[in-house]
Amino acid sequence: MIYLDNAATSWPKPPMVADRVREAILHQGGNPGRSGHAMSLAAGKLLEEARNKLAHLFNVADPHRIVFALNATDALHLAINGSLEEGGHVIISSMEHNAVTRPLHRYQERGGCVTKIPMDPVSGVDPENVKKALRKDTRLVVMTHASNVCGTVNPIKEIGLVCREAGVPLLVDASQSAGCLPVDVEAMHIDMLAFPGHKSLLGPTGTGGLYIREGVEMAPVRLGGTGLHSEEQDQPREMPFRYESGTQNVQGLAGLAAGLDYIEEEGLDAIESKEESLTSLLLEGLASIEGLSLYGPPKGVRRAPVVSFTLENVDPIEIAAILDQSFAIAVRAGLHCAPDAHGTIGTLAAGGTVRVSPGPYNTEEDIQTVVDAIGEIAEAF
Ligand code: ALA
Repeated sequence: MIYLDNAATSWPKPPMVADRVREAILHQGGNPGRSGHAMSLAAGKLLEEARNKLAHLFNVADPHRIVFALNATDALHLAINGSLEEGGHVIISSMEHNAVTRPLHRYQERGGCVTKIPMDPVSGVDPENVKKALRKDTRLVVMTHASNVCGTVNPIKEIGLVCREAGVPLLVDASQSAGCLPVDVEAMHIDMLAFPGHKSLLGPTGTGGLYIREGVEMAPVRLGGTGLHSEEQDQPREMPFRYESGTQNVQGLAGLAAGLDYIEEEGLDAIESKEESLTSLLLEGLASIEGLSLYGPPKGVRRAPVVSFTLENVDPIEIAAILDQSFAIAVRAGLHCAPDAHGTIGTLAAGGTVRVSPGPYNTEEDIQTVVDAIGEIAEAF
């Protein structure tokens, strides 16, 4: 099978990811931060290892400002709901995922106010538009770093500067950038960074996290046992425990640490450049197919390794099904849980797009095979 659905979750994982999960199950099986015995301490060490490696990748000075979560949705949920307990105005882009728009839809139903500003499918959000949308009561700006539908990259550094100057926290959804594009929370003025562990960070599903800059306050949304100050009724203030109640996914996070080791060994630059060249090849090949429309940045413009296309008068879901069943090629079609993004690129009414998303293990041959297969499908219709 040729796997080209890395934007949904990466596959395959580096072999050491499975090895480390197995090792953690076999030898570090205690509950971290709860009991004082050797295996509990070993499990605690695994969490710190993953935290330290994430901090290194995102240029976070204090690793304890990174809180583990189930995935990016869970991290966004904490950041959005925790930040907006007291109401206020929120700014988002027109290409956010349901992980952002659904909590904010509920927020609006309860009287909250949200401004959606246009995100250009090629160049992203214009920071000037963020500036214009700011109000006295703006409590939060939420932006995707890169669109999960067509790979468009937002100018986060410039948006971050606008937000920092206005004293409004910027929450970045790094679902499609963490591990494949550089993310530097200091240089990009990011106050909160939500990331999944199972996409380009190459860890297992059920892993992810939220970076919270020192000084940014939010209410914890998952309260409970932390192994710390158990005699107190209130949630501890100490990071990361304030936001990390319950037993953590030690085994998953051990695998994530191994995924981060792979990125460190290969080099983020090398991964980015390999995926960039596969994406360019894909764009070039698809552009030559008659009746095919491409969305998002053209070849030569920086993007995440995500390409969306449609074929005139053919249902995207049908194309993906044919690719799977007749060619053993895995892609994702439909709305990709991001109807706003499809509204922005004009593919909502037609049922979305077919999305092809290469990863670090794909080859030029894989890309040629998928282009040929799509060419054959286009001819058959
Ligand atoms: N949000 C993920 C995707 O874009 C699952 O496919």
